[in-house]
Amino acid sequence: MPDIDMSVNLAGMTMKNPIVAASGAFGFGAEYGEFYDISRLGGICVKGLTPKRREGNPPPRIAETPMGMLNSVGLQNPGVDAFIEKELPQLKGIDIRVIANISGGTPEEYGEMCEKLSDAGVDMIEVNISCPNVKAGGLAYGTRPGLAAEVTEVARRHARVPVMVKLSPNVTDITEIARAVEGAGADAISLINTIRGMRIDLDTRRPILRMNTGGLSGPAVFPVAVRMVWEVAGAVKVPVLGMGGVSRGADAAEMMLAGAAAVAVGAACFSDPYAPVKTVDELAEIGRAQGLGRISELTGAVRAW
Ligand SMILES: Cc1cc2nc3c(=O)[nH]c(=O)nc-3n(C[C@H](O)[C@H](O)[C@H](O)COP(=O)(O)O)c2cc1C
Repeated sequence: MPDIDMSVNLAGMTMKNPIVAASGAFGFGAEYGEFYDISRLGGICVKGLTPKRREGNPPPRIAETPMGMLNSVGLQNPGVDAFIEKELPQLKGIDIRVIANISGGTPEEYGEMCEKLSDAGVDMIEVNISCPNVKAGGLAYGTRPGLAAEVTEVARRHARVPVMVKLSPNVTDITEIARAVEGAGADAISLINTIRGMRIDLDTRRPILRMNTGGLSGPAVFPVAVRMVWEVAGAVKVPVLGMGGVSRGADAAEMMLAGAAAVAVGAACFSDPYAPVKTVDELAEIGRAQGLGRISELTGAVRAW
């Protein structure tokens, strides 16, 4: 088999291959490091960070669904300072791109975390806008172009590394939000975050999740994610990190054809911790079998009707 160049460039950040561990599915990498050398991946989006430590939501906060899972973990994390002090030094010793995922209650909180994380030397900051804006009465930033642009602008002003804004799929027209964050200075866009869902126990008549509703991810969301990546990639010029239901190389290749420059693997890690590295190997096989010199040739190469 001829060799293939697996490297990609995401907003100026080069990665040895396009596969990234999605935020919330891979912790800070340590647990997975016991299974394999995580430097086989292009990058890691760490668990969503907040200004202060958070315990997350009460259990049950995970529910299995056909071909997927619902979660309402609620951003359980040690806080940005503890991440910088205790987790980042180890990660920086590994040959992998470190993308810090952040969630704030106000634009100022996003700005503050961007300053700290840039100083600490992460490679990129992923701004999660699927969280409620305290000042806007709990409305998620990601559901209104104006709010999404505001938080992007503040993050961009305070960050000294590329800023990637992560879009929520829980909107009518995702291209509207994508254009708003691009206009506000986003260097890249990632999508999709989880899709809101709900399950109910027939006997108790209680919702299965203690928070009543949660976010759906896993293979069930894959076609929705491909559609949204395709729409966004066609609407903006900045590169796209695609995710949502990817669990194997063929899925990653499909996501790239839809327009993704790189691809993240999330929920699949829970059923198979090796899913991200298997995805890297399978994607390389597909590229070789198709006679590609560079895997990046797949990006946006869909021949839409
Ligand atoms: C248990 C769990 C926790 C998550 N936590 C975060 C988070 O902290 N920040 C974030 O931006 N996305 C978070 N996500 C969303 C994923 O990063 C990803 O966008 C989504 O699950 C779709 O990809 P997947 O189907 O491959 O999981 C979480 C997902 C799961 C399943």
